[in-house]
Amino acid sequence: MPHLLHLDSSARADSFSRTLGARFADAWRARPDAEYTHRDLTARPVPPIDQAWTEICDTMLREGITAIEDYPSAVRTPAQRKAWDVVEPLLAELVAADVVLIGAPMYNFGVPAQLKSWIDQVTFPKMSLAPRRFVVASARGGSYLPGTPRAPFDHQTRYLVDFFTGHYAISDAIVLGTELTNSLVDPGLAERLDLHRTSHAEALARAAELGRSLVEGY
Ligand SMILES: Cc1cc2nc3c(=O)[nH]c(=O)nc-3n(C[C@H](O)[C@H](O)[C@H](O)COP(=O)(O)O)c2cc1C
Repeated sequence: MPHLLHLDSSARADSFSRTLGARFADAWRARPDAEYTHRDLTARPVPPIDQAWTEICDTMLREGITAIEDYPSAVRTPAQRKAWDVVEPLLAELVAADVVLIGAPMYNFGVPAQLKSWIDQVTFPKMSLAPRRFVVASARGGSYLPGTPRAPFDHQTRYLVDFFTGHYAISDAIVLGTELTNSLVDPGLAERLDLHRTSHAEALARAAELGRSLVEGY
């Protein structure tokens, strides 16, 4: 059965990245046998990694442990066991997924700390997650699309796509994005409200279409 893991990381309940992700997830779940797991990283924050976590990671590197099913063999001490108790359910959800959908607002040119903590917890050396697919549901106050003056400052979607393809060995990561959300609240951006509305409408339509087409592929 095709399985979607859906993460949200916006601090806002009424959020553009949550709305976009939900549109994708609804389309995915329209297939009766599709499986779905939702994790809200704001409602249930994942703690940052600790000393014991780094010891597990070093053991994996030292002993060449790279197969995900062998990871538990790197857990040696009671403190490491405690650290692994945090990792285990998160990793199990990730491994069970065919598609990982990540709701990711831009915070200070990057991703929310709660999403970064999840990435730090579940990521280990030389980890391949192919052939899983990754989809990012992005929202940001300004515009960072290629060709815009602020494009070089996109350390949010660019980081996620680079990391998923570069470290997880995924062939591609798809970005759905709503731009210029600050035009709703910042009078200085009011003249760009139409651009925001168009961007959001297009992103919602793409999210529904992508959810439908991806789930049909399994
Ligand atoms: C802590 C914080 C930092 C932000 N930093 C940026 C930023 O660097 N660039 C930007 O364009 N918008 C920034 N924003 C605006 C958000 O990206 C925007 O509100 C977006 O819609 C948030 O996603 P959401 O609607 O899913 O919550 C920031 C918002 C917050 C709360």
